[in-house]
Amino acid sequence: MEPGAFGEALLAWYGDQGRELPWRQTRDPYRIWLSEIMLQQTGVTAVIPYYQRFLERYPTVAALAAAPIEEVVDLWAGLGYYSRARNLHATARQIVARFHGHFPATLEELQSLPGVGRSTAGAIAALAFEKRAPILDGNVRRILCRLFAWQEDPATAVAQRQLWEWADHLTPATRVHDYTQAIMDLGATVCLPRNPRCSDCPVGRFCLAQTLGLEKSLPRRRPTKAVPTEAQVVLILAWGGRILVRRRPLHGLLGGLWEFPGRALVHGQSSAQAVAAELLERGLSGRVQPVGTIRHAYSHFRVQIEIFKVQVEKFEGVAEGGDGEQWLPEQALPEMPLHGAHKKVLGLLLKKSDRSSRKETTIASQD
Ligand code: ADE
Repeated sequence: MEPGAFGEALLAWYGDQGRELPWRQTRDPYRIWLSEIMLQQTGVTAVIPYYQRFLERYPTVAALAAAPIEEVVDLWAGLGYYSRARNLHATARQIVARFHGHFPATLEELQSLPGVGRSTAGAIAALAFEKRAPILDGNVRRILCRLFAWQEDPATAVAQRQLWEWADHLTPATRVHDYTQAIMDLGATVCLPRNPRCSDCPVGRFCLAQTLGLEKSLPRRRPTKAVPTEAQVVLILAWGGRILVRRRPLHGLLGGLWEFPGRALVHGQSSAQAVAAELLERGLSGRVQPVGTIRHAYSHFRVQIEIFKVQVEKFEGVAEGGDGEQWLPEQALPEMPLHGAHKKVLGLLLKKSDRSSRKETTIASQD
């Protein structure tokens, strides 16, 4: 394929139909890097408010580097894939320590930063420094598989090599910033995973999949693996208008995020038994009420969480709770940086208590 004609058609379309996004007006590598890390596994709509909040709190890479990691993790809460928050902070510190506060412009140095792979490095080089560097994120991979009618599994090493070669071949020597944004927009708005809008495609005449009628069946999908589901119980421990929450250890799954206490059910255990075991270990007893069930999916497993509210009546152990635990006023909970599954837990709890307090008012007004 003639890369010049492809690039021109794409750029003309982008000039006309490209999205206006908050990170597109800048060439500041800090802002571009921040947006690229956030956009790695999260959609544009969810990212925008986080991007703005981060820039308000940390206007420069030095400000981010100087912040405590706990604060950065708290600000990230709800965006998911939390290793990104730790890598973000580690990178900011390296930029200050290794690069005197300035982002490097070479692919090699960019890729040496935590959380920056080949495609993110390419995006930063192209968007911030106008370097001719290809990208190959999920959207571009889908576009290339269709454009060149790649009918094999796109995840193999052979496919990767081929796809990078095509990505490189198509990347123009000039207007790399706009080209990179344009190909991202094409993937996000036209060359869609399930129902590609081929009749609106500015580069449809170059697309082999369209010619062969394969646009909906490419890229070839891997058979989806069955993901395991873990059953858990979560306890809303209530004591004098306060609720117990805890911060998870900084390293490990959902590191540094806040949650309600709870545990996974061990084999053969009922949720009632798991609740009893948790209360026994904590040395407390009280009135237990079921609140409901929520489900949440992570990349490699799912959880099904049964929620119980416990009005604590008696402490036999210490009232303070354990390490990293805090009794917070109920009204403070919506402001807490809970991880996604426990945000759902809180949502259900608030919905239920709103309903029961409305019921109480009705009864009161009948008296
Ligand atoms: N996905 C990854 N990077 C992006 C960007 N700069 N604009 C829109 N979507 C993206």
